[in-house]
Amino acid sequence: MMSYKFALDEINTKIDILKQEFQYIHEYNPIEHVKSRVKSPESILKKVYKKGYDLSLSVIKENVKDIAGIRITCSFISDIYELSNMLQNQPDINVLEVKDYIKNPKPNGYQSLHLVLQVPIFMSDRVEEVCVEVQIRTIAMDFWASLEHKIYYKYNQAVPQHLLNELKEAADSATQLDKKMEGIHKEMKELKEACNRQVELNNLPQLILNS
Ligand code: GTP
Ligand code: MG
Repeated sequence: MMSYKFALDEINTKIDILKQEFQYIHEYNPIEHVKSRVKSPESILKKVYKKGYDLSLSVIKENVKDIAGIRITCSFISDIYELSNMLQNQPDINVLEVKDYIKNPKPNGYQSLHLVLQVPIFMSDRVEEVCVEVQIRTIAMDFWASLEHKIYYKYNQAVPQHLLNELKEAADSATQLDKKMEGIHKEMKELKEACNRQVELNNLPQLILNS
């Protein structure tokens, strides 16, 4: 379990570096929050039984890819892909799986970008390659997923059809909200850039005089 904790530490540091650099370059923070967890032994066993895997450490290691999990909430959809590309392009990271539930949402409406990354952990006498599942989503997608999860938990799987329909509608509204927010953000960015260019132009005569 220790290796999984170290893998989370490695990826969390990478995310923190990208976040600080992004803030420096773009003057805004693309990451709203980051949550990470190591799956409890009980949950690992539950998954092993559910999937019918053999109860051996090597089989578990090979098949359960979400023992170490990180959930990143971003401000905008474009940030999700930018962050995902930045992580995937790091030379020490091995990308095992990419599932894009934003381009292809699940039938219930679930949206997120899922990555399974493998990262090397340098121990005293060996290097271990450890898997981490990274889920990247917007605040609206996260809001939806946590409500949907709570509803399933409460109804013990058999959710009434009208609630399922409403959940799907809510997912569509979340998509619309994300698109609208992204549009506003893009326009604001363009306005700010135009404003900066104007300030530079206004300062040009003075710069020429000074030189
Ligand atoms: P499992 O790892 O067994 O879940 O199967 P999988 O590898 O096919 O799963 P997938 O990559 O689709 O999803 C893994 C995780 O994403 C889940 O453990 C959840 O945290 C989250 N997730 C996937 N689908 C849903 C969904 O419909 N609703 C919510 N709330 N979360 C979901
Ligand atoms: Mg999975």
